[in-house]
Amino acid sequence: MRRPELIMRSLPLILFLSLGSLHLAAAAVDQFTFDGFAGVNLTLDGTAVVTPDGLLMLTNGTTLLKGHAFYPSPMRFFHEATSGGSSTVRSFSTAFVFGIVVEYADLSSPGLAFVVAKGRDFSSALQSQYMGLANARNNGNASNHFLAVELDTIVNAEFGDMSDNHVGIDVDGLASVAADDAGYHDDRTGAFVNMSLLSRAAAQVWVDFDARTSLVNVTMAPLELPKPRTSLLSAAVNLSAVIDDEAYVGFSSSTGVVASRHYVLSWSFKMDGPAPSLNVSKLPALPVTIARAPSNVLKILLPIASAALVSALAIAALVIHRRRRMYAELKEEWEVAFGPHRFSYKDLFRVTNGFSDERLLGFGGFGRVYKGVLPVSRVEIAVKKVSHESRQGMKEFIAEVVSIGQLRHRNLVQLLGYCRRKGELLLVYDYMSNGSLDKYLYAENSKIMSWAQRFRIIKGIASSILYLHEDWEQVVLH
Ligand SMILES: *[C@@H]1O[C@H](CO)[C@@H](O)[C@H](O)[C@H]1NC(C)=O
Ligand SMILES: *[C@@H]1O[C@H](CO)[C@@H](O)[C@H](O)[C@H]1NC(C)=O
Ligand SMILES: *[C@@H]1O[C@H](CO)[C@@H](O)[C@H](O)[C@H]1NC(C)=O
Ligand SMILES: *[C@@H]1O[C@H](CO)[C@@H](O)[C@H](O)[C@H]1NC(C)=O
Ligand SMILES: *[C@@H]1O[C@H](CO)[C@@H](O)[C@H](O)[C@H]1NC(C)=O
Ligand SMILES: *[C@@H]1O[C@H](CO)[C@@H](O)[C@H](O)[C@H]1NC(C)=O
Ligand SMILES: *[C@@H]1O[C@H](CO)[C@@H](O)[C@H](O)[C@H]1NC(C)=O
Repeated sequence: MRRPELIMRSLPLILFLSLGSLHLAAAAVDQFTFDGFAGVNLTLDGTAVVTPDGLLMLTNGTTLLKGHAFYPSPMRFFHEATSGGSSTVRSFSTAFVFGIVVEYADLSSPGLAFVVAKGRDFSSALQSQYMGLANARNNGNASNHFLAVELDTIVNAEFGDMSDNHVGIDVDGLASVAADDAGYHDDRTGAFVNMSLLSRAAAQVWVDFDARTSLVNVTMAPLELPKPRTSLLSAAVNLSAVIDDEAYVGFSSSTGVVASRHYVLSWSFKMDGPAPSLNVSKLPALPVTIARAPSNVLKILLPIASAALVSALAIAALVIHRRRRMYAELKEEWEVAFGPHRFSYKDLFRVTNGFSDERLLGFGGFGRVYKGVLPVSRVEIAVKKVSHESRQGMKEFIAEVVSIGQLRHRNLVQLLGYCRRKGELLLVYDYMSNGSLDKYLYAENSKIMSWAQRFRIIKGIASSILYLHEDWEQVVLH
């Protein structure tokens, strides 16, 4: 009996949830801590996803794409105006752990940015150097209403980038108001220590805004170090000119032509005070490699090749289909018994050159007669095409044809066989090279036949009729 136990266990959870929403209703959320993003409610777009092991993956390794992830509800960045006075900006602080995994360690791709923005629709923003935040037309325009901290791994002269490994504070555009090489100031010695954004190692970043001084401070350090006392960057930003009242917090990233993946591993945020510290021992592991995305050459060639293959197959199928239809015959079980008397239409088609007019011998009583030569035996044949519509009596008729084929008489044209298609019967005879008798009886230009010749012909015909009527085992009437 496991059921009661299950209900008992879920009860406190339900209570907790309802208490939580009561709390939410009372005051807007102004802090959160995500040690990993498994099950976290974020608003994602573009390539951004939360992986099964709890990593926020902003870009997925496919080139020239962008992705965004925002905390689902906006934060209040201003204190309510007191009677008579104006609203005042609030301090805020955030900490996050990020990791960039590139396909080639020495090749750069754009980086990622922490963003505070009035809106979260960056659909018109460009990838590559614009990091999914702006485009060539609106870059730097005050109507963009965003503050960003960029972790930039490419040099863009148009934005005045200092190196391919820098951190910058951006307002409404990608040209930074302050920037420095990625790194930190050692607490003990005060010396600057370089860090590589593309080291494939996760690192932590802190962004602090002090409402009193209007300073945005950015600090970074390797995971194993606590937050350095001296910040890397500091710049005064008039936040009232960028956002008003409410704004969204989140991340933006994009890829250029080099495949790369931009990850956020954990994130905390707080209004009016320092961000809760992140527990780095709880972090999901950062993948060290990137599954090689297909190269651009393959990307172009593969669709072409597959399209070519598909069309080749389609053409082949069409050709086969057309040939099948072209050579289609009617063949029924009973015809098997007639064995060699059955010719294939394909063979007859070929030997008559496709029933071409130049092979036409003449028009018989029932249809056209064509000349052909059987390929192996070199026997000359005449093929008579008889159109027939009904299938009625066809079996009997073919039986007759075949039995006639068994007749042997020197004055009878040998019937070699037949072939049947829809609406058409083909009869195959020996070819008579001298043509039809009427040609000699009536032709004006040829030599008039003598009476002796005529008499021999009549005797020949009589002999064959006698054979048909009396000498053959089955009587054939003619
Ligand atoms: C990345 O995301 C885009 C858009 O969501 C998708 O079309 C593409 O296949 C993804 N690439 C990889 C390698 O998952
Ligand atoms: C995520 O947060 C948004 C905004 O607060 C809310 O509308 C939505 O229902 C939440 N989704 C989930 C799955 O909790
Ligand atoms: C800034 O954007 C606004 C609104 O899109 C536009 O009206 C204005 O002309 C832009 N300013 C500049 C300098 O491009
Ligand atoms: C840090 O890196 C930059 C750019 O690669 C270089 O100019 C600078 O000298 C380095 N500083 C130290 C302390 O190594
Ligand atoms: C920001 O940096 C400046 C200059 O380094 C420093 O004076 C100030 O105390 C810092 N503020 C915060 C909140 O860390
Ligand atoms: C900050 O911006 C607001 C809105 O544009 C403006 O009213 C205010 O004077 C600015 N403050 C400073 C110190 O420039
Ligand atoms: C950090 O996480 C580990 C593992 O979950 C836990 O043992 C430790 O107590 C946590 N530390 C803090 C300061 O919360």
